[in-house]
Amino acid sequence: MVKLFADGGSRLNEKLQLVAVSARKAGQDRGVDLGAYRWVDDPVALASDPNIDVFVELIGGAGGVAKAAVEAALARGAHVVTANKALLAVHGAQLATLAERNGAKLLFEAAVGGGVPMVKALKESVAGSRASSVAGILNGTCNYILTEMENSGRSFEAVLAEAQSMGYAEADPTTDVGGFDAAHKLTILSAIAFGTRPDYEHVRIQGIERVTLTDIRLAAKLGYRIKLIAKGALADGAVEMHVRPACLSYDHPLASVNGSLNALVVDAEPSGQLTFIGRGAGEGPTAASVASDLIDLAEGRAGFAFGKPLSQLAAAPRATPAERGRYYLRLLVKDRPGVVAAISDRLAHEEISIESFLQMPVHSGPAVPIVLTTQTCSRAKIEAAVRAIEALDVVAEAPLLMPVEQAGQSWGRS
Ligand SMILES: NC(=O)c1ccc[n+]([C@@H]2O[C@H](COP(=O)([O-])OP(=O)(O)OC[C@H]3O[C@@H](n4cnc5c(N)ncnc54)[C@H](OP(=O)(O)O)[C@@H]3O)[C@@H](O)[C@H]2O)c1
Repeated sequence: MVKLFADGGSRLNEKLQLVAVSARKAGQDRGVDLGAYRWVDDPVALASDPNIDVFVELIGGAGGVAKAAVEAALARGAHVVTANKALLAVHGAQLATLAERNGAKLLFEAAVGGGVPMVKALKESVAGSRASSVAGILNGTCNYILTEMENSGRSFEAVLAEAQSMGYAEADPTTDVGGFDAAHKLTILSAIAFGTRPDYEHVRIQGIERVTLTDIRLAAKLGYRIKLIAKGALADGAVEMHVRPACLSYDHPLASVNGSLNALVVDAEPSGQLTFIGRGAGEGPTAASVASDLIDLAEGRAGFAFGKPLSQLAAAPRATPAERGRYYLRLLVKDRPGVVAAISDRLAHEEISIESFLQMPVHSGPAVPIVLTTQTCSRAKIEAAVRAIEALDVVAEAPLLMPVEQAGQSWGRS
């Protein structure tokens, strides 16, 4: 639950008055006394109340009551502050249009990076530069799981179960570990950074479910740490957006962001590379970001939702699969003579050179994991090679393909 404190040391001032509250269960102990405020059962009715100037939506979900309430507020010209990245990623353009038409502001610092000011940094501080890429660790649950797997040597399933029991992961973890939450956030950041309409449908999403302890150990032997990276890049006028596990060299600015921290690296000219890091979730950091939006409203400095009027946001053309880079490929193969030659042959057919090759004799059973990294090649070619390798009858399960990223590398174009 996101708790918003109107007293205490922030600059939330007398210009803002909390007048009413809504949630599902009126009598619930929320650790804060709401007795002084009017209770409204229906959030849409609250958002429609003509006496309320600002509606703060902390319900969640891309549709349902959250969307209905935000629309009700914006439609009558009331400002909205929300932490709801799913809603913004999927319906951001429509909501920003509604806000503009009715003279309302739509603010959402808390929706991305929790307490880390990523939205405002891109909207305001980086506005004088031209961003070429944004790359972040935007989901604390995934980062916690990967960090714990590396530190404790436990499996994905064991760490996830522990995170669920401690309340760090949802009972249904799909949104987090499947990469969808990070994709929602990436959609918002890319829209602001590149001046394009939010375009969630075109994010290529791969979660961390298939990253094993073996991957973490073998990647470490090769000098890499595995992270779930959400990255948007502007290339040849097109926007590429990916959420996927990646192997980062240890000197990469995101490689040392551990536990539940979030971070964002922005490459922009002329400002150069900028890094933002901090707590990406939790009631305190999230409430602080909500409060900062409220202060912006009270002090009259809230701008356009995505940094520019919606009419000036381009519909970004989708990138062609022109990505080039180095790749990590993990295979589980039956331990038979000729396997390595068959794999090398499929790679050679696509003109892909192997950079390193590792085998780990840790698996029980007839199949063994092998890992190889490639020299720079096109993604289209490595994907073609992976399809051919997967068709070999010695391959025991679907291969895992991850990009390899070095510090200072222009992602996807090396
Ligand atoms: N938690 C974080 O660290 C964090 C960080 C950044 C962004 N966010 C975003 O903030 C939003 C809320 O997340 P959360 O973690 O605070 O979720 P949460 O703990 O589940 O809180 C959701 C709140 O919405 C209320 N609610 C849900 N359905 C409702 C309905 N149909 N009618 C009225 N009230 C309803 C709930 O009421 P009851 O309490 O009565 O059930 C609860 O107070 C989400 O969009 C999330 O992505 C959260």
